[in-house]
Amino acid sequence: MTLTSLLIRHARILQPDGNFLQGDVLIQAGKIVEVAAAIGATGDREIDATGLTLLPGVIDPQVHFREPGLEHKEDLFTASCACAKGGVTSFLEMPNTRPLTTTQAALDDKLQRAAAKCLVNYGFFIGATAEMLPDLLEATPVCGIKIFMGSMHGPLLIDEEPLLDRIFSRGDRLIAVHAEDQARILQRRQEYAGNTDPAIHSVIQDNQAALNATQLALKLSQKYQRRLHILHLSTAEEAELMRQQKPAWVTCEVTPQHLLLNTDAYAKIGTLAQMNPPLRSPHDNQVLWQALLDGVIDFIATDHAPHTLEEKAQPYPNSPSGMPGVETSLPLMLTQAMAGRCTIAQVAQWMSTNVAKAYGIPNKGLIAPGYDADLVLVDLATYQPVQREALQTKCRWSPFEGWELTGYPVYTLVGGQVAYEQGKLNTTVRGQALCFQPTLR
Ligand code: DOR
Repeated sequence: MTLTSLLIRHARILQPDGNFLQGDVLIQAGKIVEVAAAIGATGDREIDATGLTLLPGVIDPQVHFREPGLEHKEDLFTASCACAKGGVTSFLEMPNTRPLTTTQAALDDKLQRAAAKCLVNYGFFIGATAEMLPDLLEATPVCGIKIFMGSMHGPLLIDEEPLLDRIFSRGDRLIAVHAEDQARILQRRQEYAGNTDPAIHSVIQDNQAALNATQLALKLSQKYQRRLHILHLSTAEEAELMRQQKPAWVTCEVTPQHLLLNTDAYAKIGTLAQMNPPLRSPHDNQVLWQALLDGVIDFIATDHAPHTLEEKAQPYPNSPSGMPGVETSLPLMLTQAMAGRCTIAQVAQWMSTNVAKAYGIPNKGLIAPGYDADLVLVDLATYQPVQREALQTKCRWSPFEGWELTGYPVYTLVGGQVAYEQGKLNTTVRGQALCFQPTLR
């Protein structure tokens, strides 16, 4: 059932200026219509949010939801259930599905699948291949062009400068890069061949490999003043490069994993800690944090990339890279805020407001009249461990299992509909396709 009006009462509401208001929010036809200390009107439904904090829903700008083609790992329904439980009300999904999302037809197929089964709002990247299909510049709606400069097997890999140059020189839509230097990785894979310790992953795909590719992407973006987004920054060196040289038309992101986990994780969770780009040192964690706090890094993405436990149990290097994240990202960051490392307002900026701005997603990312009612009510008073049994992601594991977190969602609203409520999903709720407007140019 689609509610026409909903009133949230007695919430601690995060306002656009970063201050909190103790009060009510009235939602009508999926939009926020009033935010006030006390609203006289009644709604078709009221939620008593006493003791809860209301934040804009998370927009996760980098996920791999595996449908079509890899549904044994995840699918758009299970992933969107995990999103709703984690307070993620919109996601931007990557093209390394089967078939690859490189054509309008493949994009349309994903959009249709998402419309049929996604509890939250959705947007998709189009993938660049060496074939330079015209769809790269024309397919719509897309949040941007995804280029894997490294760490990719198959036709999505684009690791040669002349081809990259051609892509950067044509059109003006956002280019998002996975920046790792494939030639360096291949050479180092040979050097370390035979080593099955998963910790060697961070040595093979080292900081220099990430820096080389980030430098190249930045150079091409500067050459054409092309809107560039650098995905999952992982090294201190890249953060320093961004601090020194990032132009106004470039944005970058970091994952909670690269902020909160480091190479120590291999000893504890083995190949579950394996991802691309790899986990780095505690020093990298710290420099990335500072860059985020200073506004050098614009926002946070999870790079949710589920693989089954059976796949992950294969010995390195046959174990696939990637870890799930949409269910834990908001509590992880809010727990950091409660520990004093940042503010709750910063978490909302990094996980919602700044993402909406960077991708030109209208009417999202703030709690204010006229904005879409994509909202999350979180409980910042209690702590609970991350537990495998409670996870909605099909892969059913998390690199953060056992971590005591606060800030878990109690209610998640998507376009004014209650998609998640006190431990229960409403699987009849459907999100909408996101719109994208050109930004920062
Ligand atoms: O670790 C990763 N896994 N990084 C990526 O960029 C791709 C992802 C995947 O699709 O498994």
